[in-house]
Amino acid sequence: MDKIATKRLLLRPLKNDDALDVFEYAKLENVGPDAGWTPHKSLEESKRVLEWMIGTNEVYAIYHQEDEKVIGTIGLHKKDYPMHQAEIGYVLHPLYWNRGYMTEAVTALITYVFEETDITLLHCAHFNDNERSQRVINKSGFNKVKEELKTITLHGFSITKQSVKYELPKSNYERKMLPWQQH
Ligand SMILES: CC(C)(COP(=O)(O)OP(=O)(O)OC[C@H]1O[C@@H](n2cnc3c(N)ncnc32)[C@H](O)[C@@H]1OP(=O)(O)O)[C@@H](O)C(=O)NCCC(=O)NCCS
Repeated sequence: MDKIATKRLLLRPLKNDDALDVFEYAKLENVGPDAGWTPHKSLEESKRVLEWMIGTNEVYAIYHQEDEKVIGTIGLHKKDYPMHQAEIGYVLHPLYWNRGYMTEAVTALITYVFEETDITLLHCAHFNDNERSQRVINKSGFNKVKEELKTITLHGFSITKQSVKYELPKSNYERKMLPWQQH
């Protein structure tokens, strides 16, 4: 993927220069843990994580066009899945929550995936206490398939949480069955 422009956002490849913007939200206690990772302790750590994300080629910057800054990331993760499948994952700076930004980013990525790639099944998941992410997933049109326990490491401690898993087949997109395709 090169770039996807939406009404207010630009999904584009991450750059090393994005480290300060990433650290601004990645250091916060209410961001990473909901996505399964420990908040970053330093700008150096954000630089290292950014380097790694750039290397995967699977994670994109969510760039706010008006504010001219990176306010989150969205990933299209293929490597743990069979051919023609991928998982969408995302995080956003809390200053931008509840204004529909992530739904805008996810629905744009879904459109790109089913129009421009050979992926035919998308996955998504949230921890059972993450109602914000649950809303994004529901509004985007994913169907719940199962719940399973997932173990993550937070602040050096291993914790096990219930993860709710969803899928979205290309056929639902093609038949215009998704909530955001209704108007
Ligand atoms: C989850 C996250 C990406 C949502 O981004 P966002 O741009 O605020 O999402 P949207 O504005 O598109 O939608 C948020 C929805 O959650 C709802 N919501 C907000 N706070 C809520 C709460 N405490 N309980 C229930 N729903 C809540 C909003 O009302 C909105 O739904 P609505 O459109 O029906 O009103 C963002 O909160 C985030 O980055 N959280 C931390 C990291 C994370 O959880 N990542 C996902 C891991 S699965």
